[in-house]
Amino acid sequence: MKTVGVFDSGVGGLSVLRALLAELPGVRLVYLADSAHAPYGERSAGKVVERSGRLTAWLRATHRIDALVIACNTATALAIDGLRTTHPDLPIVGVEPALKPAVAVSRTRAIGVLATRGTLQSERFARLRRQVESTASSPVHFFGQPCDGLADAIERHDPPALRQLCHRHVQALLLQAGGDIDTVVLGCTHYPFAEDLLKEALGPRVTLIDTGVAVARRTRDVLDLPHSSRATGAPPLLFSTGDPDALTQAALRWLGLPCLAQRSRA
Ligand code: DGL
Repeated sequence: MKTVGVFDSGVGGLSVLRALLAELPGVRLVYLADSAHAPYGERSAGKVVERSGRLTAWLRATHRIDALVIACNTATALAIDGLRTTHPDLPIVGVEPALKPAVAVSRTRAIGVLATRGTLQSERFARLRRQVESTASSPVHFFGQPCDGLADAIERHDPPALRQLCHRHVQALLLQAGGDIDTVVLGCTHYPFAEDLLKEALGPRVTLIDTGVAVARRTRDVLDLPHSSRATGAPPLLFSTGDPDALTQAALRWLGLPCLAQRSRA
């Protein structure tokens, strides 16, 4: 059985784990939440690179992983190139804001991108944006909105703070774009867990785009696994550098997974 390591700054990568569980039933998944150091989005690039290196080394040393999924846009933006250089023998799949799929569905050509400050300010995101803008069939405008505090409120499972932050960031986004936006990219793996509140703030006219399924399919291709498998999945192993109970609760709340998370010293 193949083993895939998955990490995120915290519980947000569970949105990617959910898709991986559905697409790769015969694979053992080892999920590592760096909740002791979350959120990454408002930390220095150096810190995110250092933590990503530690988490990858821990996953390799403890579980002999066949591939790694960086279930975090911020860590992908800042650390994936370095990790690929340090671990040339390890297939690594990252997560990037789904700008191209958003262009494919947007009619108004005004697209919002909700992401962390770290992702939006990264050179990798700027490159992706330029590339998608230059290859779109008609002009398209991206409006990036850094959602400070949102990943942290999801980490803490704080519904009142969450509602307030979703409305505040959506207002700021709509103000930038003058109300033309019809498509919004969830550029942080935590945000699918605030989807209802974001939809409430954005209104029914706006389509939300998530990346979990695309990442899971890419991982399946990288591992060269068949498209449909009857294999019954082993339950994932969950680890957290912070409070394992919080990860256990989050996995049960959002994924219906009855798995006891353990503490990691990564
Ligand atoms: N879930 C991560 C992302 O996709 C990071 C959120 C954070 O820790 O700030 O960007």
